[in-house]
Amino acid sequence: MDAAELGKSRFLNNLFKLSGMSMESRMRHWLMPPKRTLEGADIKPGQTVLEVGCGTGFFTLPAAEMIGESGRLIALEPLADFAERVRTKVLGAGLSHVEVIQRDALNTQLEAASIDLVLLFGVVPFPTLPLGRLLPEMHRVLKADGTLAVWLFPTTAGVPSAIVRSGLFTEIAKKNGVYRYARSSGAQPPRAPA
Ligand SMILES: C[S@@+](CC[C@H](N)C(=O)[O-])C[C@H]1O[C@@H](n2cnc3c(N)ncnc32)[C@H](O)[C@@H]1O
Repeated sequence: MDAAELGKSRFLNNLFKLSGMSMESRMRHWLMPPKRTLEGADIKPGQTVLEVGCGTGFFTLPAAEMIGESGRLIALEPLADFAERVRTKVLGAGLSHVEVIQRDALNTQLEAASIDLVLLFGVVPFPTLPLGRLLPEMHRVLKADGTLAVWLFPTTAGVPSAIVRSGLFTEIAKKNGVYRYARSSGAQPPRAPA
């Protein structure tokens, strides 16, 4: 299925509704506190951050808190149910610097060079987020000095090496299970993305 159709699929919305329960479980909060994982992304107050596939918002509110009101968080999610759930949470918390957009990460429609930090947290590898299309779009929206932060769970499945092979990013560091990459100038053509 084309990723653009994701948000409209009743089957996928129902399926993800079930998995949404585990995304929000107390056990998950206890085993992997979201703030600790987010610390690995080296978020700085005032940044403009794009969170890809925010799901039910496990990372969204803690990330918004770390960015602060001088910054901006764009939480992107194609599934209508999840996007609505996160919107409700954001409204409830009175966070005016968070915007939830129901969109496909392969075609974000965001301005080029407008984002300081992209969070790919718990979203790759995923069939509707092929790296060969996702990475060029993340490279496009990131500022020249922007960073891509990737948290992979439960398996890395060759993603870190595929990101480096793409030629679009270079690895900076790994902390709390989060890989950080600097946006490359893009001078070199991408090499065989996964
Ligand atoms: C395993 S969930 C993780 C959700 C959240 N990041 C978390 O860790 O709790 C994967 C999420 O990626 C979203 N997703 C799938 N394909 C996508 C696409 N093409 N663009 C943006 N998000 C997508 C799904 O709808 C789902 O919410």
